[in-house]
Amino acid sequence: MELFKMNDDYVAHEKLVRELNNDELRTQYAAPLNGYKTGLVPTILGWLLVTAGNTFYGKKPSYLKFKAVEVIARIPYQSWESAAYTMLTAFYGNERHAIRLCKMAAFGRFAQDNETMHVVVISNIVQKMHKDAFFRHTLIPILFSFFYFWVIYLIYMVSHKAALELNYLFESHAYQQYNEFLKQEGDTLKQKPLVSDFLDFYGRNVKNEYEFFESVRNDELIHRNRSIREITSHRRIWDPA
Ligand SMILES: [Fe+2]
Ligand SMILES: [Fe+2]
Repeated sequence: MELFKMNDDYVAHEKLVRELNNDELRTQYAAPLNGYKTGLVPTILGWLLVTAGNTFYGKKPSYLKFKAVEVIARIPYQSWESAAYTMLTAFYGNERHAIRLCKMAAFGRFAQDNETMHVVVISNIVQKMHKDAFFRHTLIPILFSFFYFWVIYLIYMVSHKAALELNYLFESHAYQQYNEFLKQEGDTLKQKPLVSDFLDFYGRNVKNEYEFFESVRNDELIHRNRSIREITSHRRIWDPA
């Protein structure tokens, strides 16, 4: 059984993920938003997030770092979905804004399911390696996620632009880390076959860990670009036209 078999967003996303395996196409897709300048608040919070991640889990990409980071990566999307539904309570009378909020909630739902796939599959790989420490790689990310959910929820309510820009920084970092990992460990990853019931359920087919991490890297780049594109396409009722 596949989770998203009949979903148009899923079909388009998976097609783009496969296309972005081409280096030239990926460079073209990334280029327009590579130098995007974020505001002061997201810049400070983004720096704090990346610095905390590097301090706790090391600067270099690793399976264990990815496991912790992916637990947290789902949170902004979960938070946006909830915040968008909360706002629908106030703006259900305005059809234009109701449509925009529903679209935002749908994007949040779709992206958090994608991040869930990352965390489930990576956790499974890590579990088989028997290298993770419960406190550092499971408990800390879960506790941080509770706190992070409400921080993002509040930021989104005050400025959805700041929330989306913070996510742009988080996803940029994730994209760079997976890119580096593939460059450093590419040959070894190609020798590791990957069989996962959850990947089958999600509807993504890969032969080995290299193909899996390649697809995750592409997911993060799509999330990065989409975060900025949502800023212009989902203005709120009180935002200037
Ligand atoms: Fe992810
Ligand atoms: Fe992501």
